[in-house]
Amino acid sequence: QEKDVRDQQPWWKEKQEQLLDLVERSGTSYVYDTDTLKKYAAMIESIDPVDYRLYAMKANANPEVLRTFRELGFGFECVSIGEVRRVLELFPDIDRGEILFTPNFAPRTEYGEALELGVNLTLDNIYPLREWPALFEDEELFLRIDPGHGHGHHKHVKTGGMHSKFGIPRFEIEEVAERVEELNITVRGLHAHIGSGIKDPYSWKRTAIILHEVAEELGGVDILDLGGGFGIRENETEAHLDVQEVASSLEQFREAHPGYELWVEPGRFLVAVAGVLLTRVTQLKGKGQVKYVGVDTGMNSFIRPALYGARHTIVNLSRLDEPNSQSVNIVGPICESGDKLGIDRLFPHAGEGDVVLVANTGAYGQVMSSNYNLRPPAGEIVI
Ligand code: LLP
Repeated sequence: QEKDVRDQQPWWKEKQEQLLDLVERSGTSYVYDTDTLKKYAAMIESIDPVDYRLYAMKANANPEVLRTFRELGFGFECVSIGEVRRVLELFPDIDRGEILFTPNFAPRTEYGEALELGVNLTLDNIYPLREWPALFEDEELFLRIDPGHGHGHHKHVKTGGMHSKFGIPRFEIEEVAERVEELNITVRGLHAHIGSGIKDPYSWKRTAIILHEVAEELGGVDILDLGGGFGIRENETEAHLDVQEVASSLEQFREAHPGYELWVEPGRFLVAVAGVLLTRVTQLKGKGQVKYVGVDTGMNSFIRPALYGARHTIVNLSRLDEPNSQSVNIVGPICESGDKLGIDRLFPHAGEGDVVLVANTGAYGQVMSSNYNLRPPAGEIVI
């Protein structure tokens, strides 16, 4: 059996010299490795029962990254009209049916624009059907259903259940069905996304079963979009998502309920591991037992540790071969105590100017960056 690519040594170890060179020339940057993007895409492609794959571009909207997925035949899941426009600018000839626009509490104008552009449009609330019925008359739509439960690596990223703002709850399906009929709407697909960073391989089958029930209630539905949320191993201490088990459980679903197209829309899984953030040591500090390694960017470039307590592997790329001799906090220059990229990390003795690498930052990194403190965040380089 072929070795799981996820167990190979990290790509950035092989490309250490190239990465050090890049920082020398371009300064603090995100670097994305196209070969790694393709390896993770191949794993998603190996889920055979899935008929169509969209890339959730909110995870990383870099044009080169989008081009790579386009070349591999992925469509795009977009959450704002800005994302839709970026796809159309980059790929003017794309079939509009390969774009799924899935807004949440967006203004009415964005729905109008999406319909005019002819992209697939998802409603995730009954409000637009009640309040703006004329907009949707005779149209084809997707509906985002709240399957009633959420899942994910942090409460901020659970997107199902009564306490989540996403999706149409099942108790409203009857009214939706009535309005759909009155307005002569075709519900082409049902959609659900329950959260991010999911390692339970049966999660997508569970979603499929619930969407299938709703589809049977509504009738005429062709597509069940099971969302994204495919988890990666965030650091060496975690297990992988069993992708084969995802595939075989969906195969069982498909055998039991033929006649539906299955779609998925991963973001993080496709891009996280392919990205690293490279930053440089600015100053060192010791306060009693607590040691700090300061670097020249922090939560302004990468907010996941501050926002979710996410633990990303961090190494001193300039001293990969030196032994870890101390426990340190790796902190940025932002005026917030939460501006920590890593807490209590074993690290070699560091020096000013060393290049520090934060791993698995290809997803929800640059896209969530800000100009806080008027410190420009890291730029992007694709190799
Ligand atoms: N589809 C929909 C409708 C979504 O809302 C999302 C993510 C995805 C697909 C892709 O999920 P993924 O495969 O990337 O887990 N900033 C957070 C994640 C927020 C996810 C928002 N929605 C993080 O850094 O963990």
